[in-house]
Amino acid sequence: MLRVGVLVSGGGTNLQAILDAIDSGRITNAEVAVVISNNAGAYALERAKNHGVEAVCLSPKQFETREKFNHALLTSLDSYGLDLIVLAGYLVTIPPAVIEKYRGRIINIHPSLIPSFCGVGYYGLKVHEAALQRGVKITGATVHFVDEGMDSGPIILQKAVEVLPGDTPKVLQQRVMEQAEWVILPQAIDMIANGLI
Ligand code: GRF
Repeated sequence: MLRVGVLVSGGGTNLQAILDAIDSGRITNAEVAVVISNNAGAYALERAKNHGVEAVCLSPKQFETREKFNHALLTSLDSYGLDLIVLAGYLVTIPPAVIEKYRGRIINIHPSLIPSFCGVGYYGLKVHEAALQRGVKITGATVHFVDEGMDSGPIILQKAVEVLPGDTPKVLQQRVMEQAEWVILPQAIDMIANGLI
């Protein structure tokens, strides 16, 4: 059974997609052992509690220094005996010590077809604003392994989504979530849980 920790900062729709996929059997041999957020008000924490999953708030604001937070995060992750860490809209920089210890076992969902519209400054709605600004006709989402860079690790899965005339950033974001993110993130977890990657 793959023990999964999910790191979140916001609404948690990707977390919900994972939980629903486990319940429906689209993900097998995996369980979400803990959800950790830096944001006490993150609705993702409510989604975890509603599903009976341990929900933890661990924020840099709770510590005197970033180093102390980094150590606390690593200690917390280690305490759950995790096989896989999933970043689902987690907006805090992953400490190098965590990347080193969990190399090859941390994945992230990014709301574009990497290498387009990724890297520093490209997160959340900004990604879709940039895609519309550039005028691309196809965008999508990417699941990739996390390394020391920003959105730079090996790509695992991608799914394309059409950009439609009149799309606003919010409308496009919702379509990318529904048609791509909520499909390929559970799919990647199921592949890892069943030894396919
Ligand atoms: C998603 O758009 C995801 O692609 C990005 O952050 C957002 C998280 O949304 N990494 P949610 O918290 O899963 O609803």
